[in-house]
Amino acid sequence: MKDPRNEWLSAIAAAADETALAAVESRLFGKKGEVQELLRAVSQLPKEERPAAGKAANEVKVAVEAALTARRGDLSMRAMEQELSAHGFDPSQPGPQRRVGSLHPITIVQQELVDLFTSMGFSWQDGPEVESEHYNFDALNIPGDHPARETQDTFWLDDGNLLRTHTSPVQVRTMRRFAQDFQPPLKVIVPGRCFRAETVDKTHEHTFYQMEGLVVDRDVSVANLIHTMKTCLRVVLGRQDLKVRLRPGFFPFVEPGFELDVNCPFCHGKGCSVCKQSGWIEILPCGMIHPNVLRQGGIDPEKYTGFAFGMGLQRVVMLRYGIDDIRLFMGGDARFLRQFQTVPK
Ligand code: DAH
Repeated sequence: MKDPRNEWLSAIAAAADETALAAVESRLFGKKGEVQELLRAVSQLPKEERPAAGKAANEVKVAVEAALTARRGDLSMRAMEQELSAHGFDPSQPGPQRRVGSLHPITIVQQELVDLFTSMGFSWQDGPEVESEHYNFDALNIPGDHPARETQDTFWLDDGNLLRTHTSPVQVRTMRRFAQDFQPPLKVIVPGRCFRAETVDKTHEHTFYQMEGLVVDRDVSVANLIHTMKTCLRVVLGRQDLKVRLRPGFFPFVEPGFELDVNCPFCHGKGCSVCKQSGWIEILPCGMIHPNVLRQGGIDPEKYTGFAFGMGLQRVVMLRYGIDDIRLFMGGDARFLRQFQTVPK
């Protein structure tokens, strides 16, 4: 029997690219392929010659197959190298970075606050952004002719509704929801978006975020309010040395009402430009819920008392990260946002 092994192996070695190699492969192993013919020829031999010839033919087949596989590997590697060098590819360069999105700093702080308050037994309530005049003002002890309305530059809608100017309307909405068969304590937080027809500057935005808090129970006092606020601000501002002070503040839906300040983190109370030399920074308004508001919510003010607070989320975020321009939050500048890379929960 003839041994065409060398001729086949050189045909494989001579195939210059993957197409040429495929042609050699089909010549050898196709339907009437030459290797198949060789194997078939064995069966034509006299019986006694078949085992030795079969073994030899099989060895040829295995060798040719191995050569084909090796050549295919070489050629595809070479093809890849050629393609890469044609495009000026540098394999030592790091691969393209996939840009992972990040949470907005307001979302980060809001999530932390929600976690913290829920761990203290508060539940999360929601309310509409398009609100009625009744819930936004009247039910909060702010009647139509009250000067307090003037301080909230309101976006009125044609149908008499408005874009809520604060999250406080959800106070009465929530009390009403729970008033029937009231089971104290009622402890809720209401994070949400609010709107005012403000002239936008470094410290004012037309769209902003607040987090309202509300606690109603028997014998709730200012001491409970102070404790809750201190706990919350210590965690969210990451300051164990945090102190608070209350100053009187007027809001028609609380009595007494307060402005709550924290000791300045920048000068530790000595006085600096951030705290306007006072040593204190105003952080949130709060107070004891006005009896009229409890009544509006269907809760008997003779039996129950409560406190409420309205935290400006941007203000807290600005203080925490040292951001000095509120417009950055809505500005859509990815370079600003990218600084808050955190793994989304
Ligand atoms: N809603 C008020 C505002 O946006 C803030 C506020 C003050 C909320 C006192 C309260 C509060 O719950 O007790 O101006």
